[in-house]
Amino acid sequence: MIDIDRLQKQSGIIGTSSGIQQVLEMISQVAPVDISALITGESGVGKEVVAKAIHKASKRNNETLVVVNCGAIPEGIIESELFGHKKGSFTGASDDRKGYFEEANKGTIFLDEIGETPLETQVKLLRVLDTGEFMRVGEAKTRYTDVRVIAATNKNLGELVQRGDFRQDLYYRLKTVTVDVPALRKRVEDIGPLVERFALEFTRSNDILYRGFMPEAIRVMKQWEWPGNVRELKHFVEKVLVLQRGERVTAEMVQHELLDVMPLEPVHNPALPVVVNQSSDKAEIDLILRQLFMLKQDTEIIQKMLISGQVQTSGSQFPLISSEEMGIPIPKKSMEITEEGHNLIRDDAIGDMAIKSLEEEAITRSLRYFNNNRRKTARSLGMSERTLYRKIEEFGLEPKIKKRN
Ligand SMILES: Nc1ncnc2c1ncn2[C@@H]1O[C@H](COP(=O)(O)OP(=O)(O)OP(=O)(O)O)[C@@H](O)[C@H]1O
Ligand SMILES: [Mg+2]
Repeated sequence: MIDIDRLQKQSGIIGTSSGIQQVLEMISQVAPVDISALITGESGVGKEVVAKAIHKASKRNNETLVVVNCGAIPEGIIESELFGHKKGSFTGASDDRKGYFEEANKGTIFLDEIGETPLETQVKLLRVLDTGEFMRVGEAKTRYTDVRVIAATNKNLGELVQRGDFRQDLYYRLKTVTVDVPALRKRVEDIGPLVERFALEFTRSNDILYRGFMPEAIRVMKQWEWPGNVRELKHFVEKVLVLQRGERVTAEMVQHELLDVMPLEPVHNPALPVVVNQSSDKAEIDLILRQLFMLKQDTEIIQKMLISGQVQTSGSQFPLISSEEMGIPIPKKSMEITEEGHNLIRDDAIGDMAIKSLEEEAITRSLRYFNNNRRKTARSLGMSERTLYRKIEEFGLEPKIKKRN
């Protein structure tokens, strides 16, 4: 069995809670044995981090790890993506092509969001899991691949089976070895070390002075629900550090920023630690929309300043002239959010924007905000992942379905 301390250092998995220690123990037992594994847990808990740790601690660590987000691949091409295809097997198949299972030969394949795969594809997955055999689309020849499969889901696969959306045989095959990563609110003692790590990484790579978080600030963060788990915590830390540049982060600052994430929810006693029921997705979309419209407003101001020659482009300091002083009429709010969250666009902006460019900007910024996580991005934008996929192609935004390590 692998030494847990070494594993923790090598994988970068932070956490002293018994929940995380159990996950590490499980990785150390599972990694060296060449069996498939299923990783479960809510969104943002660290399933991908665990999958990578298993690969790194396995005998296959010098081979490829192919990461496939099954939920982001359109149904029509998923089998050709996974298993490859023969030239001419469908319109657009201009060459023979290897699939991810062939590319991962001798290594590991990580099938993220396995619950999203169509039922017909699940039959083929079961076969390749059992025997290593598969066929390229449009070819009758059986091929063989030596791949270790790690799958992940934030869905309850048992429920999907009950509903007839997931094959029972594949479910049983996958769940034999399950690593369940607990939600962050169930291991709040990890929040301190996680904040410290994220803060150090972020300030170091962005040249920001870092004076630490006060213990009270961490205490406030421990009261939060973190529906988006570690990912949400990471983005939150980065945001606080940007907004409070160079200051030691206090409980008040954290409280303030947490309330800012949930602007539409009435908070009855702001002095108390906050636990808000609003879903992280709703909060995140509010935040993204706010940022988007603020950006648009900033761009307009800068444009006007440049046109009127009021900005000295030499020197790094932005001139400290208020927009009122410059006679530029700026609405008090760049957007209005009514109680239902409608009317997001100012009246005076109408006639001055193309849906396409707003859409492209919203997609680009949301992808960046969610670290290229397409599922969260799609959900936050209220579109299906397949539509998002199509838009990424349409706008020529870099496709990153497949990452290699
Ligand atoms: N224990 C941990 N230690 C350090 N970083 C972590 C830990 N858990 C998660 N992270 C970080 O949090 C972010 C989210 O993790 P990850 O992508 O693995 O989550 P996930 O469970 O796959 O999420 P999703 O279900 O949304 O795909 C990543 O930036 C990851 O590096
Ligand atoms: Mg993931």
